[in-house]
Formats: sequence, structure tokens, C-alpha cells
Amino acid sequence: MSQGKVLVLHGPNLNLLGTRQPEIYGHETLDDVNNALREKADLKGWELNSFQSNHEGALIDAIHAARLDGTLAIIINPAAYTHTSVAILDALNAFEGTVYEVHISNVHQRESFRHHSYVSLRADGVIAGLGTQGYQAALDAAIKALRKA
Ligand code: DQA
Repeated sequence: MSQGKVLVLHGPNLNLLGTRQPEIYGHETLDDVNNALREKADLKGWELNSFQSNHEGALIDAIHAARLDGTLAIIINPAAYTHTSVAILDALNAFEGTVYEVHISNVHQRESFRHHSYVSLRADGVIAGLGTQGYQAALDAAIKALRKA
């Protein structure tokens, strides 16, 4: 029996991780990131599911599914939808578990349109600029928070 489910959601263009602007996003692929997260979750007895989409509606559908399947935490890098999507914010507002927002790059050091996040209005925690390690930090934090709950 696992301790619970965590969902990791990756937004648009993150399927290109490792080859997309590696000077900003690094050389690890999305599979590398997901495998490392799954390894940590397995060790700690949690079930980790991950999903990437380039489509806003598909991400929203995944959040809706998480409301019903017992998922306790969502770790989301909404990518460019961070800065545009009221619809993803609304979907996360309808999810009752813990939400952590992750950005690989330090969005606050970049163009001003990346400084605003709709998702941050809902997120229980935000990590930016730690590279792909940010996902690991979010998973550690989620597991700790859920254990306490
Ligand atoms: C990103 C930052 C966003 O501004 C950008 O659109 C991305 C990735 C990050 O992980 O640093 O696609 O969310």
C-alpha cells in the first residue's frame, strides 16, 4: 500500500527539455526528471504519476482527474501557461490537495512578462531557479507536508 499519490504536471514545451535552450533549462530530459522523481517517491513509499502536455485543456483535464482519484498533491510547472492561464488557476482552485509550483529557471531574473504567475495565487509553495532540482525539492516538501497532515 502506498502512502498516497502525487501528480507531477509539465506544461508546454517541457517535452523538449534537454534540447530546448539548455543554457536556461539544462541538459536533463523530461524522462530523466520523471524517473528521478519516481525513484525518490518509490523509496519513500509514495505513488508518483507524471503527465506533460502542450495543450491547456489536457492539463486542466488531468487536474480534474486528480480531484477524483485520491491524488494528495500536485507539483506543476505550467511553463508559459503560468503567465496566461486563468483556466489552470481555476482548475487548481477546484483541487483540494497541496499544490507546489516549480520553475526550472529563475523567472524573476527574466523578461517582465514572466514575473507574474496566475498559478501562484493558488500554490502552497513556489520554487524557481533551482534547475530541475526544484522538482525534487517540491517532492520532498510535499511528502513532509502530507506526513504531518
Ligand atoms: C518555465 C518558465 C516559463 O516562463 C517558461 O515559459 C517555461 C518554463 C521554467 O520552468 O523555468 O516554459 O516554467
